[in-house]
Amino acid sequence: MSGDARKTAEGLSYLLGFGNEHTSEAVPGALPEGRNSPQRAPLGLYAEQLSGSAFTEPRSHNRRSWLYRIRPSAAHPAFTRMDNGALRTAPFTESVPDPNRLRWNPLPDPATGTDFLAGLWTLGGNGDATQRAGMAVHLYSANTSMDRVFSDADGELLIVPERGGLLLRTEFGLLHAEPGHVALIPRGVRFRVELLDATARGYVCENYGAPFQLPDLGPIGANGLANARDFQAPVAAYEDVEGPVEVVNKYCGNLWRATYGHSPLDVVAWHGNHVPYVYDLRRFNVIGTISYDHPDPSIFTVLTSPSDTPGLAGVDFVVFAPRWLVGEDTFRPPYFHRNVMSEYMGLIEGAYDAKAEGFVPGGGSLHNMMSAHGPDRETFDRASAAELRPQKIDDGLAFMFETRWPVTLTPHAAGADHLQHGYDDVWQGLERHFRPLH
Ligand SMILES: [Fe+2]
Repeated sequence: MSGDARKTAEGLSYLLGFGNEHTSEAVPGALPEGRNSPQRAPLGLYAEQLSGSAFTEPRSHNRRSWLYRIRPSAAHPAFTRMDNGALRTAPFTESVPDPNRLRWNPLPDPATGTDFLAGLWTLGGNGDATQRAGMAVHLYSANTSMDRVFSDADGELLIVPERGGLLLRTEFGLLHAEPGHVALIPRGVRFRVELLDATARGYVCENYGAPFQLPDLGPIGANGLANARDFQAPVAAYEDVEGPVEVVNKYCGNLWRATYGHSPLDVVAWHGNHVPYVYDLRRFNVIGTISYDHPDPSIFTVLTSPSDTPGLAGVDFVVFAPRWLVGEDTFRPPYFHRNVMSEYMGLIEGAYDAKAEGFVPGGGSLHNMMSAHGPDRETFDRASAAELRPQKIDDGLAFMFETRWPVTLTPHAAGADHLQHGYDDVWQGLERHFRPLH
């Protein structure tokens, strides 16, 4: 934490748009014109491509960036294994998938000197990182800035801060993420997390599958949900640091470290569409009913990682943002349901309209495939009797990682002290109201 970091974070400017072919140079003339790999790159820099998709994927799916850096990424010593801490990776085989509805309180405070990487704690996930399919749910709790650099070869990281601002120093430049924002670090991109407050806490979706993209809008039309222009990519900024820098690489489930002789955040210019970004969830254009019922929560999808099956996401990132409820003759909170998809929910601030209590900021719930869930008794009773005037839901910001496969827990999540006991009880008091007419 430092005042300098906050001043830096609050003074950042960005490149706007989702999936754009951005260009940026921290030093005028650093970016080659008209070609990617000239015989001699400008200013004595090395040219290097970073591929986020196979070379041959269709143009609409192709992700790559060209980086112009002080040293090529290849200039590094051998990596050696290090302790994985509480970080785990799919396939998750240490527990069996659990059909129970589960809910956790926030992570306990970490030991002094815990940085973002050391503070990552895996709840569970699915798929197989080596097959580039599936996802993991992590939480983080940290109280000091990283002085090392991290990258994740296993997937992209969608960081959802719940407490404390973050300054993300990436190969592409700097990003500022506060609670209510999300930050995305693409697969393989190196970054360092600096804290802007005394503590930082939040959630991370590690997506092993296809990179998150904006959902198609269908009959919604050309605008709505998360608008592309609200996604902010960094401008080039580099560190010219000679001296030992610890670099940690998450690779097929394990952490590996190497001590470089320089900072790998040494990209002076870049162009491309495989880039980190931040997005303010309060900019989400919430769409809902203006007649009766309410649409499925897919209407709240911010980002989706498509699978090979049309319409079936590896994981969707969904936000329950402030909105008006106006449905007539409608049970307005989220309805009771059972879902073939599996749902991990977290709360960034305030309260969620289907849970009167027990679901707290920094906590989370898991409703795995086909588990029955919905409003708790208090919410059901209140909503069933409510006068249906227009109502603003404005005191909460909840989100969901919704994934195609059940989430299998890590043993430390299944046995955590902060796992709530008696979550089932919130549905136990739902009374019988059935009265046959005869
Ligand atoms: Fe649900």
